[in-house]
Amino acid sequence: MCGIVGAVAERNVQGILLEGLRRLEYRGYDSAGMAVLSDDARLNRRRAVGKVAALEASLDAGPLEGRVGIAHTRWATHGRPTEQNAHPHQSGESLAVVHNGIIENHETLKAELESQGYVFTSQTDTEVIAHLLAREFNRTQDLLEAVRQAVALLDGAYALAVTHRSQPSLIVGARKGSPLVVGVGIGESFLASDPLALLPVTDRFIYLQEGDVVRIARGEPVAVFDAAGERQERSVHTYEHGDGAATKDGYRHFMLKEIHEQPQVVAAALEGRLSERRALIESFGSEAEAIFSQVRQVHIVACGTSYHAGLVARYWLEKYAGIPAQVEVASEYRYRRVVVPDGTLFVTLSQSGETADTLAALRFARERGYVGSLAICNVPGSSLVRESDLTLMTQAGPEIGVASTKAFTSQLVALMLLTLSLGRLNGMDESRQAEIVQALRTLPGAITQVLGLDGAIETLSMAFAEKHHALFLGRGSHFPIALEGALKLKEISYIHAEAYPAGELKHGPLALVDSEMPVISVAPNDELLEKLKSNLQEVRARGGELFVFADESVRLEEAEGVHVLRLPHVDEALAPILYTLPLQLLSYHAAVLKGTDVDQPRNLAKSVTVE
Ligand code: G6P
Repeated sequence: MCGIVGAVAERNVQGILLEGLRRLEYRGYDSAGMAVLSDDARLNRRRAVGKVAALEASLDAGPLEGRVGIAHTRWATHGRPTEQNAHPHQSGESLAVVHNGIIENHETLKAELESQGYVFTSQTDTEVIAHLLAREFNRTQDLLEAVRQAVALLDGAYALAVTHRSQPSLIVGARKGSPLVVGVGIGESFLASDPLALLPVTDRFIYLQEGDVVRIARGEPVAVFDAAGERQERSVHTYEHGDGAATKDGYRHFMLKEIHEQPQVVAAALEGRLSERRALIESFGSEAEAIFSQVRQVHIVACGTSYHAGLVARYWLEKYAGIPAQVEVASEYRYRRVVVPDGTLFVTLSQSGETADTLAALRFARERGYVGSLAICNVPGSSLVRESDLTLMTQAGPEIGVASTKAFTSQLVALMLLTLSLGRLNGMDESRQAEIVQALRTLPGAITQVLGLDGAIETLSMAFAEKHHALFLGRGSHFPIALEGALKLKEISYIHAEAYPAGELKHGPLALVDSEMPVISVAPNDELLEKLKSNLQEVRARGGELFVFADESVRLEEAEGVHVLRLPHVDEALAPILYTLPLQLLSYHAAVLKGTDVDQPRNLAKSVTVE
């Protein structure tokens, strides 16, 4: 999704802005641009369709010089990805703005501004903001005041950075509904939609709050004002994830690196959260025990891969904790007339903590009488974390590949901790709790073993690269894993894939099975194994080629058209986590063979901050 970088520095900012944009590339975008104020207060802009490399080429041909500038990667919502629609947008030659989010009342505002003589040159909603700001600046002659007046007229979501040639040593930023952070340097200040963009220049950040307006100026301290216009002292946080995440560390793609990080990621998600025989409820916050002890059921809301993690948790919560759970995609939940029984906990799952629908669902839920809200999230300081009663950080470290891998496994670990915590308060058998705790401790080792199958999975993937469709099957808590496997394959290889609970096969999808339809199945050794085996026979009988990931103890022979890959045995409660890995690797290798853009698949974004 769109990315913002801004800098007020003591040096030329072109390099800082360009590196910031490169670091935001993983979010997904289709054009990029930059505006720099020169020391003689002229506003110079460059924009390019396509990758940041295209913008860089244009800057190589004609560099921008100046110590104040803003830059942007745009993911098209209003208007096609063209140079004219790329940000920064200007009003005349004086003011430039970059914007993330969507302005819902842009048509009304545009009509009003056109009637006042402003001429529009793009199809974007953002250009409305540029002209509104110019109009307000003409009245107030003060950029901070102009931003305040203008944002009051906007409906929708925004993170903004604005610069004006009449105030050439400052940038004003504002946020509502889209993230924006201030990077605090020494005598320099920066803005970005994601701290990752600024790690080469600072590791100190102010996470702006909803409705905040900020002024960063050369030689002056950062000044933050809340929605009411009151000056606020916001705390400065040191970024503690290190910068390693922004490099591929010798791997060919970020996605492959992130898949291979999963043993450490699982260990990090567990760190300090287990006692000898139990999960520690306090990991969810000091209020957790008081809230959890009232919980009789759970509503889980999320999008994309995070939604699939929620679906696994439904099986766990009901089976191990004896607590009914309902799971729903956020874009549906938020517009539904939801019935909330007494004692319901509201849980959101999100790697980014900024997904617009999930955030809106949380805000909607707050008015619905839940006993509390819990966010399971990977980004400290994100909106979801700030607005929830309880939080559990998944500790996966920044995930760069658009297709989520390590964030998903860390969410599953967190959800197992939730299951054990709620289970403990709901009378879950103590020895079963202790067994699962023990199995969690050995999980990183089992994951390392599965990663050792990478070469064998790469060989299997050769059977896919030429296919147009694939079917994924699973039963019980492995049905969501089949859904996630199909989603991964779609996202990065563009092969059409569907997932079904294996028992549903004969109610439709079996009609699709022939020698051109690979069928992938996960077969842990659980109570549904024998039933799954019958379903696989049904596929084989129709000529479908089978790829089965099975527990080492499962009796299932390799044969013509039947490929079996053995996984180490784990406690069945944790099998969904382990069986996720081969499906990630399979998609990855199929995509590499197809030559797609693995880390930044077409049309997709890492963090979907618009509805
Ligand atoms: C986008 C990403 C997915 C992610 C989904 C939900 O579609 O490409 O990888 O699963 O958003 O994001 P969240 O940050 O809320 O987990």
